[in-house]
Amino acid sequence: MRKFMSAFMALVLTLVSFGGFSQVQAQEPQTFEIGVAIYQYNDNFMTLYREELGNYFTELGEADGNTYNVDFQDGQNNQATQTEQLNNFIAQGKDLIIANLVDPTGAEQIILSAQSADIPVIFINREPDISTMELWPGKTTYVGVDARQSGVFQGEIIADLDNHGDLNGDGVVSYLMIMGDAGNVDAEQRTQYSIETLEQTIPTASLGEHQRGNWDQARGQEIAANALSQYGEDLEVIFSNNDGMALGAVQAIDGAGRVINEDIYIVGVDALPEVVELITAGNFTGTVLNDHFNQARTAAEVAVRLLNGEEVAPYFWHDYVKVTSAEEAELKRLDFNEETIEEYQQRLEETYGSAE
Ligand code: BGC
Repeated sequence: MRKFMSAFMALVLTLVSFGGFSQVQAQEPQTFEIGVAIYQYNDNFMTLYREELGNYFTELGEADGNTYNVDFQDGQNNQATQTEQLNNFIAQGKDLIIANLVDPTGAEQIILSAQSADIPVIFINREPDISTMELWPGKTTYVGVDARQSGVFQGEIIADLDNHGDLNGDGVVSYLMIMGDAGNVDAEQRTQYSIETLEQTIPTASLGEHQRGNWDQARGQEIAANALSQYGEDLEVIFSNNDGMALGAVQAIDGAGRVINEDIYIVGVDALPEVVELITAGNFTGTVLNDHFNQARTAAEVAVRLLNGEEVAPYFWHDYVKVTSAEEAELKRLDFNEETIEEYQQRLEETYGSAE
């Protein structure tokens, strides 16, 4: 629990200029214990996110005089391992938990356990079901990005090409879809909205079933290599739910002697630095910035509010950004958008015609 450093050691005197007089305010720095459960360290995007989160808590502590002890744990993509880590956080009496769940359907159980120990929970990266956010209002929140938007941007990147992705001129875009893990909101929505968006401009046809690469580069390479050998020149566009798998697909495309942006297109999500370099060199069609910088910083700032005993909104959103040039992937601090559950559902209804 919150440890107060010895008052003698830690009394900070802040001089405040006030109407020509000086007042002395005493503030005692506090130490907060924060448990962060990451679904797996072996993930390019979550590595960028984790580093930003750790560094930003240090920065916040330097600015406000508090100590934020951040205990990161690697769930190794195994829900049983992660559940044990979360239970340990609760047993240790952490002041706050930040959870990037292996399996977001377990959010309800985590909230209930944390609530019984009065430990607020911030979910990141993997959005839990809307209904779970009603369980412990004010003390549970999701800080993230709306995955539908990333799918729409992926579809638009291909639709905006002069030929709309139809390299062979047959009036249909023949594509391969490389997906993240089953039941993951980002995977489902990027898949659905990228194709629905492109379909508004040109008909599409999936070459074979959508394939699950589980966000992994080596799997992305394997899936793309198989598709390239099976469908050859018929394959015009590769949609990948993330840049990691897309980088694997790039290796397969190179191996097959195909040339990106000449005889095949590829679009990912994340704007990993490696992909932005490829875009600059003209060797990658486009990606969508999954803004780890703002998501991590907002998560940390919301954490500070909760640690100070405040109640917070159930949703804090940042925007995805369409990236077809390096400038568009530049990271800068931006405002978040807070929403209640009702506002979120209303926006979904208005924008996508469904509250789910
Ligand atoms: C990212 C992926 C990442 C996944 C992990 C997604 O939002 O785009 O790169 O592997 O989150 O949950």
